[in-house]
Amino acid sequence: MRRLTVPKIQSRKTDGKTKEPLVMLTAYTARMAQLLDEHCDILLVGDSLGQVIYGLPSTLQVTLDMMIAHGAAVVRGSYHSVVIVDMPFGSYEASPQQAFENASRIMAETGCAAVKLEGGEAMAETISFLCQRGIPVMGHVGLTPQAVNALGGYGARGRSQEEHAKIMADGQAVQNAGAFGVVVEGVIEPIAIALSQSLEIPTIGIGGSDQCDGQVLVTEDMLGMFDRVPRFVKRYENMAEVITAAVAQYAAEVRDRTFPSEDQTYQPKS
Ligand code: KIV
Ligand code: NA
Repeated sequence: MRRLTVPKIQSRKTDGKTKEPLVMLTAYTARMAQLLDEHCDILLVGDSLGQVIYGLPSTLQVTLDMMIAHGAAVVRGSYHSVVIVDMPFGSYEASPQQAFENASRIMAETGCAAVKLEGGEAMAETISFLCQRGIPVMGHVGLTPQAVNALGGYGARGRSQEEHAKIMADGQAVQNAGAFGVVVEGVIEPIAIALSQSLEIPTIGIGGSDQCDGQVLVTEDMLGMFDRVPRFVKRYENMAEVITAAVAQYAAEVRDRTFPSEDQTYQPKS
């Protein structure tokens, strides 16, 4: 199976639920990438790894080096999905030139197919600069976690007329700048629907709508690895419980010397 491409992803508009939506999940490690790859169209190396892997309070402290190390691991662990790497806070906002320098490092050092960056109208010039120079860009509008301090929290966006209009304009700006798709996060459903209907590029919802052209979740959230998750997360498994039970059993067996047993020990050849 050949790896999917950015143009193939861009062509996957679902026309109001009549076609198959895009399946996207986050991955930060090679092993997780291997497990997700055949079921997904897109693997996102999200800067959510700041909280999920590194225990940081937000995505603001995530560095370019972290994104590159995990991006390379996910590319090595996958052969089918398009791998997209998030540009971390501070690596692209200053100027289109700064964004190109850092995005080109991400592309060259990880082998990923595209980058994702947060912001709409304010980032349009930068998105266009990257796209014209061979770097495919996925946009991200609505609740943009790198702007948590400006937004005042992680609550759903778009409840006021002003916010509603701003998010619609952001989506349009990202498309006009040349993005091949856009993540629509944490918005009231009518906005996610209106964006999905008005844009020609696929919308990927997370706290969006079932009418988006695709869906994304943080894998650890949908697997039940975290206590506190947003409303838009559906838990498909309770991995925290599974891991806790396994570790408790291991600890008990070490303490009562039932592990290792004969099966796990080497004997001299007789
Ligand atoms: O960092 C991330 O995981 C993301 C997705 C939730 C869209 O940006
Ligand atoms: Na992100």
